[in-house]
Amino acid sequence: MSETSLSALSSESRRFEPPADLAATANVTAEVYERAAVDRLGFWAEQAHRLRWDRPWDEVLDWQPPFAKWFVGGQLNASVNCLDRHVAAGLGDRVAYHWVGEPEGDRRDITYAELLAEVSKAAHALTELGVEAGDRVCIYLPMIPEAAIAMLACARIGAAHSVVFGGFSAQALVDRITDADAKLVITADGGYRRGAPSALKPAVDEAVAQCPSVRNVLVVRRTGQEVTWGERDLWWHDVVDRQPDTHQAQAFDSEQPLFLLYTSGTTGRPKGILHTTGGFLTQVAWTHWAVFDLKPESDVYWCTADVGWVTGHSYAVYGPLANGATSVLYEGTPDAGGKDRWWSIVEEFAVTLLYTAPTAIRTFMKWGDELPNSHDLSSLRVLGSVGEPINPEAWIWYRDVIGGGRCPIVDTWWQTETGAMMISPLPGVTSSKPGSAMGPLPGISVDVVDNDGTSVGELGGGYLTLDEPWPAMLRGIWNDDERFRETYWSKFAGRYFAGDGAKWDDDHVLWLLGRVDDVMNVSGHRISTTEVESALVSHPMVAEAAVVGATDATTGQAIVAFVTVKGSVADDVSAGEAFAKELRDHVAKEIGPIAKPRQILITPELPKTRSGKIMRRLLRDVAEHRELGDVTTLADPTVVNAINAKMGSSSSED
Ligand code: WTA
Repeated sequence: MSETSLSALSSESRRFEPPADLAATANVTAEVYERAAVDRLGFWAEQAHRLRWDRPWDEVLDWQPPFAKWFVGGQLNASVNCLDRHVAAGLGDRVAYHWVGEPEGDRRDITYAELLAEVSKAAHALTELGVEAGDRVCIYLPMIPEAAIAMLACARIGAAHSVVFGGFSAQALVDRITDADAKLVITADGGYRRGAPSALKPAVDEAVAQCPSVRNVLVVRRTGQEVTWGERDLWWHDVVDRQPDTHQAQAFDSEQPLFLLYTSGTTGRPKGILHTTGGFLTQVAWTHWAVFDLKPESDVYWCTADVGWVTGHSYAVYGPLANGATSVLYEGTPDAGGKDRWWSIVEEFAVTLLYTAPTAIRTFMKWGDELPNSHDLSSLRVLGSVGEPINPEAWIWYRDVIGGGRCPIVDTWWQTETGAMMISPLPGVTSSKPGSAMGPLPGISVDVVDNDGTSVGELGGGYLTLDEPWPAMLRGIWNDDERFRETYWSKFAGRYFAGDGAKWDDDHVLWLLGRVDDVMNVSGHRISTTEVESALVSHPMVAEAAVVGATDATTGQAIVAFVTVKGSVADDVSAGEAFAKELRDHVAKEIGPIAKPRQILITPELPKTRSGKIMRRLLRDVAEHRELGDVTTLADPTVVNAINAKMGSSSSED
């Protein structure tokens, strides 16, 4: 972000007070900040009492930096907390999920009692297939109820799930299955995307051929499309449906691994972020209740994130279910069956709380006000945003057009690693500024520091760090303690470094400024430059590749790749375009379609310093059509001119 846009943000003076009626009945009031500041551990212990513990904890926190244990000695079962205790409290008939399939009219309402029965059957099935507490199960499913059922069934028997987003490729699956040493893969024949069945099983077939750890593949029939059947394959309906629908769950240690979720870092290899049970569930339950001002008996909540991402884990499954909320779960894309699909879903279910991403909001802005305006959205009362900085224009549009000017916006900053929301306004307390996540939640401590790790204090910009442990924090990187220390705890001693830049403004509210490392944020999805570079270089024709994230009006950042080739590619435009397409498809195969570069430039050379380092800063300038910065350290300054000339004549793909 440039200095001018930074200072523009700092001078944002509009403020929006919480609506009086919401403030009057809000779940939390301003005093909670004070209370949590005075006794942080006491505050979190109080929130942990929202859960059912089979054995109370002996100690709230055991902190041996960078390793934390929360609610030490306590025992609980995450699935029981999400299901059994609500049913036991007489809420069995409450709808847990209004599931909406992508094909028009495809609907399934699942009550808490029904969800418990389904999860119980699935838990028995996992046990029958030899899955035990402590094992890993890979889940590769579309947004169908079985995704949540499979996750909860794993949790119920103490196995950790590793959900892999359905948009990832076979190769990405191999890496994740192998790293986690998963015994079982749960997938489907396919899912619906943009009106057509889209296959999932072929990627699993290709992957498991290279994964000896996998004993079985459990396949949900969703689309009914043709599938190839292997020795290890079993139909979900054959194995799960015949199981008993009650299941006696065992309590597990508070620190029992709950899930792994792979995320991009600054190197090519994805990191298995490890989350455990008691602390994670405490913080997702509390934040979901406080930040959305959830009234479980009357609200209808919709988190639009896919379960393949952390937002889907924390705020489409564990948070809302732990709170006994009623949620919408939608399988498809925002434009399936019309570009007003979301607004017709909000209207149909009278959604009150909506949680989505800035990239979606900007897309809807582009599509125009008529689409949301043609639906009754008056049920909405709180709007959430997550995944990337939300620009003030999009914030105001979200508030005015979607929220009818009535709904507070909660811009929530957090990460796969933090497990739960960390920085956000509270809708009944905070008077918020458009585009700012405002400040840390109660019980959370952040500090913005300069390059030397010195706090900037109450005003000014730098690196965002977390200087106290929090309950939902990652417990490590799977099988790699060294990388855990190195990645998060080594830049600033004793502090967690988030990888984001941030700035306190004159009113001491916080602005998130995006990644400061080599991680791109494309439509709210984290993709590392190195990962895409390795994918490009694995193509036989590519000699070298440099990838940068360029600002993009809709997706936040877009991937721009600069590539040099071995030998030569014919220099006419159509051959160049055909080759760029081939490379894009190659990246899709290696990582997944989400990592396809928007633009690929084939250039004779990459700009390098005399010591041979690629000068990404310059490439970023080129990609964003900026005046070039300092080129004096370049080995060959004419290289940049050649690249710039190419950039001018190249076309990009949407
Ligand atoms: C970015 C998603 C600004 C940030 C929950 C972070 C945000 C990365 C916000 C984590 C926000 C997330 N404002 N930036 N409200 N929320 N980010 O792991 O750069 O997929 O480091 O977790 O997204 O992405 P992740």
